[in-house]
Amino acid sequence: MIVVTGGAGYIGSHTVKSLLARREPIVVLDDLSEGHRDAVLGGKLETIDLGDREAVREIFHREPIEAVIHFAALCSVPDSVRDPDRYFRANVENTLHLLSAMVETHVRFFIFSSSAATYGTPERTPIAEDHRCAPINPYGLTKLQVEDALRWYGESHGLRSVSLRYFNAAGADPDGDLGEDHRPEGHLVPLLLRAAIGRVPRVSLFGDDYVTPDGTCIRDYVHVTDLADAHCLALDALRRGGDGGVFNLGNGAGYSVRSVVAAAERVVGKPIPTQIAPRRPGDPPVLVASSDRAARELGWKPKFADLDVIVSTAWNWIREHPDGYDN
Ligand code: UFG
Repeated sequence: MIVVTGGAGYIGSHTVKSLLARREPIVVLDDLSEGHRDAVLGGKLETIDLGDREAVREIFHREPIEAVIHFAALCSVPDSVRDPDRYFRANVENTLHLLSAMVETHVRFFIFSSSAATYGTPERTPIAEDHRCAPINPYGLTKLQVEDALRWYGESHGLRSVSLRYFNAAGADPDGDLGEDHRPEGHLVPLLLRAAIGRVPRVSLFGDDYVTPDGTCIRDYVHVTDLADAHCLALDALRRGGDGGVFNLGNGAGYSVRSVVAAAERVVGKPIPTQIAPRRPGDPPVLVASSDRAARELGWKPKFADLDVIVSTAWNWIREHPDGYDN
């Protein structure tokens, strides 16, 4: 059985769908504080808070668990700057509850949702995994601390892990079954599309004075279904006896905030109201991945690398679900 924490969330729910397609037995652990019951397309759902250490232990003692895929976390860079305490508790302390339960019950495989935010402001791009890590916000530091802990759980407890450093997850299930529904929404792509249907009056573009060609931040957008596939490949690699370790997941192409606005306008076929606003704290100017290692060692090959395709899948879902999972 595979434990998927945060399986009712955005990337987690897409990964659950990919695992179900492979007929993997799944138990989703989610407190539904940010996730959605309707996003869990199958498997068992246990509504628990990972802060409840005893409840976590009980599940590991009850179920025959082979591996843990750990998505459950807080994931807003600006919120982490405002409230680091909440972030360290949710992202580090709660992960330790899982790891302790795994050690206690001899569960060996762990796949971790890490982030490009572990790098901080990169010295060169594209960023490879051996680039130095110097997070510039608490969110990135929480992810790095767990990665570091995983190395020692590997050395001393025999835990085998893969940390997947996502760049900018975007898009929605191409079949239209799942999408992105954060409340409040803070990510660029869904905000632009919500503005296109009139649910957001206008989108603030945070900073046009960065040292980039058009002054706005550059990011590497990667389709959520491609991220989901990477988790299945990581599981295969661990089962084959692979060493695991850290892998970037991005398309290796950087798009400025302005070029994402242009892509969204092409996809929706009309102008989207935006305004220039001050920089957002914690935002590095450029984040673009080298994912060569994931290609080489996991066999990962993104299927939806084109930005317009990524945005179109998100648009299809938002048009069909203007109220998200409340529809
Ligand atoms: N942006 C805007 N206006 C908005 C929202 C975002 O201009 O209303 C800009 C941001 O400043 C950034 C880009 O659009 O330059 C993308 O922002 P997102 O909030 O969509 O994504 P982030 O790059 O902040 O965050 C993503 C992941 C995080 C991860 C981070 C790495 O969501 O989990 O990349 O820095 F940590």
